Amino acid sequence: MNENLSNLLYLISIASFILALKFLSSPATARRGNQIGAAGMVLAIAVTLAKDGLDTGTYWLIAIAALIGSAIGVVGARKVKMTAMPQMVALFNGVGGGAVALVALAEYHNTIREHVGPTWDISLAIGVSGLIGSVSFAGSIIAFAKLQELIHGRPITYPGQKIVNLAILGAGIGLAIAIAAGYQATWALIVELILALAFGVLFVLPIGGADMPVVISLLNAFTGIAAAASGFELGSNVLIVSGMLVGASGTLLTLMMGRAMNRSIGNVLFGAFGQIQAGVGEAGPAASGAVRSTSAEDVAIMLAYARKVIIVPGYGLAVAQAQHNVRELADELERRNVEVVYAIHPVAGRMPGHMNVLLAEANVPYTALKEMEEVNPEFPQAEVALVIGANDVTNPAARSNPASPIYGMPILDVDKAQAIVVMKRSMRPGFAGIDNELYLDPKCMMLFGDAKESVIKLLSAVKAL
Ligand code: TAP
Repeated sequence: MNENLSNLLYLISIASFILALKFLSSPATARRGNQIGAAGMVLAIAVTLAKDGLDTGTYWLIAIAALIGSAIGVVGARKVKMTAMPQMVALFNGVGGGAVALVALAEYHNTIREHVGPTWDISLAIGVSGLIGSVSFAGSIIAFAKLQELIHGRPITYPGQKIVNLAILGAGIGLAIAIAAGYQATWALIVELILALAFGVLFVLPIGGADMPVVISLLNAFTGIAAAASGFELGSNVLIVSGMLVGASGTLLTLMMGRAMNRSIGNVLFGAFGQIQAGVGEAGPAASGAVRSTSAEDVAIMLAYARKVIIVPGYGLAVAQAQHNVRELADELERRNVEVVYAIHPVAGRMPGHMNVLLAEANVPYTALKEMEEVNPEFPQAEVALVIGANDVTNPAARSNPASPIYGMPILDVDKAQAIVVMKRSMRPGFAGIDNELYLDPKCMMLFGDAKESVIKLLSAVKAL
């Protein structure tokens, strides 16, 4: 294939990646965005294989690798549960980072072996992509292991940890600078990669399991930047542009998640959030205060005779996989002329867009989902706020208690509804590990139990009225 044609086709695949990102920004068009992005990727791979200069003797090796990779990707994506999506993304991101580091090693080794030696700009790209790709690989594998509970999710800390991490990173960067400055020895890059791998492991270990989605998003941005550097090594514009798109969107997503939790990225990375703290948790004040519990029958009466009900989904809804039952309950209420809307907090659940994806799976119409800013003024008009497996995103301490770790986080104004029903299994706290003042509110009633079982009971109680 001649160069003009391949450049033109690469341009088309770059345009499709940009379009894909555009479409992915709305749930209504996200599926199409995904398809456009995948088509662009297929085109980029096909053009790369058809380009002049590729050793045709190795096609079969590429074909076998592609077949194995595709089979793992298809089976993995089909089998993965929604709640396990963050660790799947971590794994896929990790292998991307690892591939980039291996390309750096191969390029460096080849140019040294052929006695041409890489030029300084290529050496710089090799040093950078090897370093960042390896950090991303090792960090993503630890994030995966924490989320999959292969290792403990709690932050693992020890004295002098930051100094040790800094020393390892400093040594890795030192070797990358030496390589960029013209030092030519494969061992130097191998040691750099080993140091970067060690840093990736040690940097993620002290971060709590529940902060992993933010870490994964950051590591995703790292992989993008490393892939862009790899594009310089290989002279591939499509890799440079797509790598930078991943780098930029991953960085933005990381910042947006931090903002929605009112936490700086520094606090996420170095705050060891999620450690066991004295005075919070199961035995905290909310556990012992005047908490009112209720029954499905009583809640059914409140719901069936309300004019407006706001459903507040959270992580517990995803754990219970109650989305289809919630949809059925909402349908039944709408049949009785109750207006039902869903209040979506930007960090409800454990990954960006978690609630949107979950409810879309149950065919809840997008128009019924309302974002925090839009729905908050509607709470005073709602006879019932039905909180299903959400906790931190409803905690009024974020507004009123400067000592609270979530102070300043924008929350859903559930406490402004005329009555509040909270569905969860116990008085255990959510992700932030703190008690929820909402449960002591005289307007609040607890419907204890697994969210799915409770919604099923509620539905049959409403139908029986
Ligand atoms: P959480 O505050 O984590 O609370 C979830 C609640 O669900 C728990 O209190 C739990 O109580 C309940 N639950 C668990 N399994 C259940 C089941 N089977 N049936 C009924 N209830 C169940 O969740 P949230 O309100 O969605 O807030 C999300 C938190 O995660 C925020 O603090 C946010 O900052 C953090 N976070 C979010 C993200 C993104 S991007 N979404 C990323 C990182 C961190 P029981 O154990 O008593 O049932």
